[in-house]
Amino acid sequence: MSKIYSIPSVMTPDQTGEVSGLIGRAMNPDEGRWAETTFRRHFDLAARGVADGRHYLVSREGSRLTGIVGLHHYEWGPPENVWLGWFAVEPECQGRGLGSSLMASICEHARSLGFRKLFIETYSSPAFDKARAFYARQGFARVGGISAYLPDGADMVVFSKSLA
Ligand SMILES: CC(C)(COP(=O)(O)OP(=O)(O)OC[C@H]1O[C@@H](n2cnc3c(N)ncnc32)[C@H](O)[C@@H]1OP(=O)(O)O)[C@@H](O)C(=O)NCCC(=O)NCCS
Repeated sequence: MSKIYSIPSVMTPDQTGEVSGLIGRAMNPDEGRWAETTFRRHFDLAARGVADGRHYLVSREGSRLTGIVGLHHYEWGPPENVWLGWFAVEPECQGRGLGSSLMASICEHARSLGFRKLFIETYSSPAFDKARAFYARQGFARVGGISAYLPDGADMVVFSKSLA
C-alpha cells in the first residue's frame, strides 16, 4: 500500500464545491450540503475581513483533492480550546495514513494559533464507528457526551487531547 499524502495546504474559496463533494461521499449528502453552507459563509466573511474562528486544510494527490480537516473556535469559549470542524478523507483513499497525516497537521496548525486543547464532537451511530476508533488510536480520550442528542437517538460523543 503506497503513501498518498503530502503536506496539506490552506483551503481556498474555489475549492468549496470539490471539498463539499468529498465530504458528501465520505459521510453522506446532507453533511456535504451543510459543509458547503459552512464554507461559503466562512469565505464570505473572510472576504469582508471578518475572522470567524474557522481554519481549513486540504490535501491533494496531484490535481485531485483527497482530504479535508478543519478547526473552529467559539468566541465565548476558553481561548486555549478549539474544536475539530470537518474531517474527511476521500473513501478510496482511506486506510493509507492520510487521516493520520491530516490530524498531525491540524494539531500543529492549532498549536501555531496558540490553542492548547483540541476537542472533537462525534456520534455513537455506526456510521462513526471508524472515526471513534481512529480518534482513540490517535490518543484522544473520550471526555463526555450527550445522550440521545441526534433525532435518531444517537449520543453525541466528545473526545479531547492536549496539544501541549
Ligand atoms: C476518519 C477518517 C478521516 C480517517 O481517515 P483515514 O485516511 O482512513 O485514516 P488513516 O488511514 O490514517 O487511519 C485509518 C486506519 O488505517 C490504518 N493505517 C494508517 N496508516 C496506514 C498505512 N500507512 N498503511 C496501512 N494502513 C494504515 C490505521 O491502522 C488506521 O486504523 P485504525 O483506525 O484501526 O487505527 C476517515 O475514515 C473518514 O473520512 N471517515 C468518514 C468521515 C468521518 O467519519 N469523519 C469524522 C467525523 S467526526
